[in-house]
Amino acid sequence: MPLLKVDILTLFPGMFTGPFDESIIGRARKKGLLEINLINFRDFARNKHRIVDDYPFGGGSGMVLKPEPLFEAVDFIAERDGRRPEHIILLCPQGRLFHQRIAEELAQKEHLVLICGHYEGVDERVRQHLATDEISIGDYVLTGGELAAMVVVDAVARLLPGVLGDEAATREESFSGLFLEYPQYTRPREYRGYTVPEVLLSGDHGRIARWRRQQALLRTLKRRPDLLKYEDLSPEDKKLLNEDLG
Ligand code: ADE
Repeated sequence: MPLLKVDILTLFPGMFTGPFDESIIGRARKKGLLEINLINFRDFARNKHRIVDDYPFGGGSGMVLKPEPLFEAVDFIAERDGRRPEHIILLCPQGRLFHQRIAEELAQKEHLVLICGHYEGVDERVRQHLATDEISIGDYVLTGGELAAMVVVDAVARLLPGVLGDEAATREESFSGLFLEYPQYTRPREYRGYTVPEVLLSGDHGRIARWRRQQALLRTLKRRPDLLKYEDLSPEDKKLLNEDLG
């Protein structure tokens, strides 16, 4: 049994090869931690030409995705599993804005169905009576929900136990999501005259940990004041900001 099963309803399953076959997601699938099924909902269009969109009632430009293929694709999933899926997410710009907290929430589920809509629109009955949730990955308009589905799956999958391996398990999770990362360096110590902060070479693990937290706080306050307000810092963190750690 995988930790998470994701059914993706899309007209363009080919778009997912690459992102879902390579690297960490590819490895998670091979390990059986993550199951991803790409379902082309055109297969559920019953008309002769397998048409999945139609003109909007009331007129206007662009085409609208018809409800039947999407409802029937979900019926297929329900029949396959012997139960109706509980979490059916429509990717669209009108959805709730995706965030690390939503990724954490979704990583707790066993099964997700993702519907890749198109910017011209999806019949409102899909939103009202089929989808249980709507997610946007940002305030911009993509040509379809496919890239958004990839972003959501990637962010959720890396939170599943075993997907990132030991590197992640040992990392301080206090930095996940809400603070920006502290600066990282690797060898060489000097490159083109650019040097590594002395503290990281000091071997003093307490000082290194304090420096990293200080850097993460400074970076977050400066670059993303929406994530962190100085007033909300603990007295220890306020003190840490004034320490000279090199
Ligand atoms: N489809 C089109 N644009 C989108 C967005 N920003 N987020 C999610 N799905 C989308």
